[in-house]
Amino acid sequence: MPKDVSKEKSINKAKTTFELVVCAVIIGTSVFLGKSCFDKVKVVPSTNQQASTIEEIEIPDASDVLDPNKIVFTPTPINTRMKFSGNLVLVNNDYEYFSTGEEKLVSIMEKNDEAGRKSFIAVDYDYTILEPAYEPLAKMVDDWYGIYGNDTLIVYGSHRTKEFQQQLYDQFTANTSDDGEAPIVARPGFSEHETGLAIDFSETVNYDYQGDGDFQWLNNNCHKYGFVIRYAEDKEAITEYRKEPWHFRYVGIPHAKYMTENNICLEEYIELLRNSYNYSGDHLKIEDEYGAAYEIYFYPSDDGSEVTNVPVPSGVRYDISGNNVDGFIVTVHVDEKTEIGKENPALTTSPYSYTSTTTSEESETTSGESTETTSTETTETTVAE
Ligand code: DAL
Ligand code: ZN
Repeated sequence: MPKDVSKEKSINKAKTTFELVVCAVIIGTSVFLGKSCFDKVKVVPSTNQQASTIEEIEIPDASDVLDPNKIVFTPTPINTRMKFSGNLVLVNNDYEYFSTGEEKLVSIMEKNDEAGRKSFIAVDYDYTILEPAYEPLAKMVDDWYGIYGNDTLIVYGSHRTKEFQQQLYDQFTANTSDDGEAPIVARPGFSEHETGLAIDFSETVNYDYQGDGDFQWLNNNCHKYGFVIRYAEDKEAITEYRKEPWHFRYVGIPHAKYMTENNICLEEYIELLRNSYNYSGDHLKIEDEYGAAYEIYFYPSDDGSEVTNVPVPSGVRYDISGNNVDGFIVTVHVDEKTEIGKENPALTTSPYSYTSTTTSEESETTSGESTETTSTETTETTVAE
């Protein structure tokens, strides 16, 4: 056999062998990917009870799971009492605030000192707010100060104990005749100052704050930092309080944006989420000023039980807050990207923020530390519609 024919034969043989190997690798990889994909959609057993047979496993349609635009939700046991905590609690004449006694309050002045912040002060070092509200507050006032250079802003009201609210209420009722006007001081137990999420601004010249002049910027832009002006004149019939341009309430950026753009107060927003954006129906989709996208839904609390299995997203950051009435509001951080050069104050971590991860190997669901996991039921992975 001529030498070059023999060489060609061996080259062909080598080529055939190579092609066979490539085919085998492709088939092997496809089988592996298919398997790991289905592993990911297996039922997620709770820590207390393992799924024992393959019959217990429900496998959603693989095309749903492969769709990167769909979020996978996993019911996670949340202590039902948590419905009284979080940045979206509704506290008003009808809904009392129940302190857990574990709220993390920070001194506004201590925090200002730590940061060397000169843009605003509080009356004294005992003026505290809930920790997750401090950075958004400070960022808002720093941005305002950067524009106006006005150093007369003071926090004149912040977290109040029920006892302190009682003193204010007694003073108010002793000095006010019943002229039919809506009040400006809440009954003890029913003030959102007791949550640590509300602040009252004043200024150090006349000790007055009407949200005008230099201060108008704060009232107009506070929603970009997660605050709303809680008591507006046109909402008096709903809030049952007189207009208070000085009273800012932290709710979180997407919620503040939606409420402000749609001119609805917290009472209306909580009702809207309950009626129109339940977990099993449409979710509210919001994009903030910074380009971050959110998906928001309501899930009712299981009031007869110590635990409510709230569906939460896997592998995506989410916040969970009680509404202080009848359930939970989950805020999914669908896309946290921010516009170049802009810092998104929503990205500061909060005690209500979690990332749930489901691994294909362990099929384990993790949640926030403060959540007690006492459920004995097997939880299932579900795909949102
Ligand atoms: N000023 C508001 C209503 C309060 O006392 O909480
Ligand atoms: Zn107030």
